[in-house]
Parts: sequence; structure tokens; C-alpha cells
Amino acid sequence: MPTNPPDQFPTFSPALPARPWRVGLIGFGCVGQGLYDILHQRPEAGFVISRIVVKNPTKARPLPAERFEFDADLLLADDSLDVLVEVIDDADTAFRLVSEALRRGRRVVTANKAMLARHLPALVQLQRETGGTLLYEAAVCGSIPVIRTLDAYFGTEPLRRLTGILNGSSNYVLTRMGEQGSDYAPALAEAQQLGFAETDPSLDMGAFDPRSKAVLLAAHAYGAFLEPEQILNLGIEGIGAVDIAFAASQGQKIKVVAGLQRLPDGRVTVLVTPQLVGPESPLYTVDHEFNGVVIEADFAGEQFLRGRGAGGHPTGSAVLADLAALRQGFAYQYHKAAEAPEYAADLEVEIYLRTNEPRIIDLLDFSEISEEADEDGYVVGYVALQHLIRHRDTLRQYGAFIVRTGRLRPVGEAVEVLAVAEIGGAISPAHLWNPGSRQCGEFSDFR
Ligand SMILES: NC(=O)c1ccc[n+]([C@@H]2O[C@H](COP(=O)([O-])OP(=O)(O)OC[C@H]3O[C@@H](n4cnc5c(N)ncnc54)[C@H](OP(=O)(O)O)[C@@H]3O)[C@@H](O)[C@H]2O)c1
Repeated sequence: MPTNPPDQFPTFSPALPARPWRVGLIGFGCVGQGLYDILHQRPEAGFVISRIVVKNPTKARPLPAERFEFDADLLLADDSLDVLVEVIDDADTAFRLVSEALRRGRRVVTANKAMLARHLPALVQLQRETGGTLLYEAAVCGSIPVIRTLDAYFGTEPLRRLTGILNGSSNYVLTRMGEQGSDYAPALAEAQQLGFAETDPSLDMGAFDPRSKAVLLAAHAYGAFLEPEQILNLGIEGIGAVDIAFAASQGQKIKVVAGLQRLPDGRVTVLVTPQLVGPESPLYTVDHEFNGVVIEADFAGEQFLRGRGAGGHPTGSAVLADLAALRQGFAYQYHKAAEAPEYAADLEVEIYLRTNEPRIIDLLDFSEISEEADEDGYVVGYVALQHLIRHRDTLRQYGAFIVRTGRLRPVGEAVEVLAVAEIGGAISPAHLWNPGSRQCGEFSDFR
């Protein structure tokens, strides 16, 4: 017997506070103003910005001068504030303020990935000791809800792999180079002119910014708390139109990809470098200033999130989501930290290297070269990850450009020589890790 639908569907009504939550906002730049504007447009969200702290007393502001104050410590001590939002551009001061707030048992939201990547274990420990709560969805991929997805939704499900385009500035430059066939400098100048890249582009173009984000992803995806320096980061400062053309000739694009991967032996590795990405990957269509993350879970399979990784409103939206989560009593659980995997760097990575400095090739000590084009100055082959980590500053200094093909193998593994046509995925991954093992593909096809 079919039952009649109820007159009224039951509604989930979490306990909302009788009054709006009072927010102390530290920083009123791009993100702070984005949050302010969102809350102004959505008063029903239930948050009011009660106090705002900035640094420069003489700067022109879009709000009356009496709205601003200049001593963030006064906000930390103000118990009438329900939550503090730290969105300043100074990582050291941010750490001092956030850790002091947590020491006082306060609720805090931050967007500061550089500060978090450096101090996450200490901040997690402080929360455990004091009962304070820190959320930071905006710190990784702006508007994309990836941290809470990993922590809450996938908190108990093992993940095979997580790959992402985590930096919109470098992605914009790469996209424009691909569209125009142009070189790096004009594409960067355009990105800077349009506000998609900073005046000092080194953190974005050198892949330092996505490396910080990868540190945070590793903590939530795998329970691995890493130092930023443990992770290989290679940037795009040395890229040229010839490299984009090389990728296109293979039917691929070059993207800066953060790759976090569980290896067949249970260890985890993380790499943040340019990588060849083919049309079979959801990341292939993540262009311009957009970010994207592919999560591959053992049971759920593949999931793909794409969205804006920066900007006042997108980032402010993530901060608002954190405020709402705090009001519901949410805190990150870091479930996987209880069984944190070992970090693996004893691997060989297949790369395309272009350099006009022959000593760079000697320095990297390729264990296998599958292709060498002297006239174009490039080499394709396997090098030890440790060599890339050790020499990354020299590579940058000499303008060498490196792209990963996506393949990894254990150090010293004998493999078949790869043909040119196989760059991009035609070779059976089973040849690249522990031949005969069913887990091979999961490891070597790192894209
Ligand atoms: N912009 C984005 O799209 C984006 C995306 C994700 C994450 N984030 C992160 O969010 C944070 C803020 O970025 P943003 O782009 O909004 O920076 P921003 O536009 O440069 O603004 C920084 C703000 O912080 C204030 N400030 C600096 N030091 C201070 C101090 N000691 N005390 C009080 N206020 C201080 C500045 O004050 P004055 O106004 O007086 O100079 C300014 O209002 C950074 O950690 C950034 O990495 C940004």
C-alpha cells in the first residue's frame, strides 16, 4: 500500500543561536573585504562583523575610518566575539595570532596556507590541549570544499590518489601559452595585468604556493604531516613555447599538478610539479584561473571538484562556510593521523627535461634515458626523486624546465625502454612497478 506523503516534510533544524554570531575580522584586504561584502549581502546568514583590525592607519578604506582598529591582540582578548577570522598577508604574525587565540580556547578561521603548512602539527596539538577550534577551507583551492570533504566525508575511507591544480596564477599562464602559442613572459605579464598573478610571481610560478596546499591536503587525505621542504616543487619559470608544443604533439597539456599518492607498499608520496595531462584526466579541462581536484577513493571511486581558487568572493564564501560549520560545532577530526603512513622519496620519476646547460643532465644522473633530442635540448627519462629534491634550486637557477610524464617506479627498478609514442600513457603501467603485481597500475600511472 502506498502511503500518502506527509503534509509537511520533516526539516532538519540545527540549533541556531538566538543572536547573530559576532565576528572579529583581522585583515581587510581581498579576502577580508570579500567576506565583509558577502555578509553584508546575506544578513540572514547570522554573522555580523563586529570589529575589524588592519595594519596601516593611513590607508584609504571603503568603510568609515571608525570601523577600523590596529591592535589584533585586543580582539584575541575580547570574549564577546564568538569567532576570529584571520586573513592577513603576514605568515609569522598570523601564526602568533592564531596560536595565541587557540591557546585561549577560541574558535578561529584562517586562509593562510603558508602559515598552516609550516605550523600545522603545532596548531592541531594546541586545539587538542585547549579545546579551541581552527578551520581553514579557504586556504586550499579558495571556493572548492576540499578540506572538509577529505576530513569529514572521506575521513574513514582510504584514498588511492589525489591530484589537483591548486594554483590559479600558474594555470592561467599555462592556459594562455597554450591558446596563443606564446612564450612565458608575455603570458605572465597578461596574468599580472588582469590581477591573476602577483607583482612578485615567484611563490605561484615556482610552485611554492601549491606545495603549501599539498601539505594541508596530505594531512587530511592521508594523515601525513609533512614539512613543506620534503615535497618536491618545481615551477614553470623556465617553460617556453617549445615545451607547450612538445606536449601538444603528444595530445597533452602541461599543468602544474599536485599529486598525492598511496604506493602499493602503503607509503605515501607527494609531488608538486608541471605534468603532462591528457584528455582522459578531468584536470585537462581545468583552464585559466580555475582550480580542480580529483579524489580517487578505494570504494567511492573517482570524484572531481572544480572551481575558483582565489578572489574575494570565492575565498570569502569558503570562510563563510567555515563560520557556519563552527556554529554547528564542527571541528576537523584528522582521523587518518592515527595511522599516518610513512612518506616515500626513494622513487624514480620519469621526466621531460629541457635545458641548454649540459651539466644539468649530468647533475640529475638519469638512470635511464628513453629519448634525447639534442637540437631541441630535451631529454626524456627516469631520475631519482632525491636528485630532483636536492638540486631543485640549481634547476631553477639555470632555467631548466621539467615536466613529469606521470610515471613513477621504485629506485633501481629495471624496466623496458619507453618509446616516444608511449609518453602519455600507452605503455602498460604494469611494466613500471613490481611486474606481475595487480597494484602496479595504481602506482605508476600517477595522473
Ligand atoms: N587573495 C586570495 O584570493 C586568497 C585566496 C586564498 C587564500 N588567501 C590567503 O588569505 C590571506 C589574506 O590574503 P589577501 O589576498 O586578502 O591579502 P591582502 O589583500 O594583501 O590583505 C591583507 C590584509 O591584512 C592586513 N594586515 C597585514 N598585517 C597585519 C597585521 N599585523 N595586523 C592586522 N592586519 C594586518 C592588511 O592591512 P592593511 O590593509 O592595513 O594593509 C590587509 O588588510 C593570505 O594568507 C592569503 O594567502 C588569499
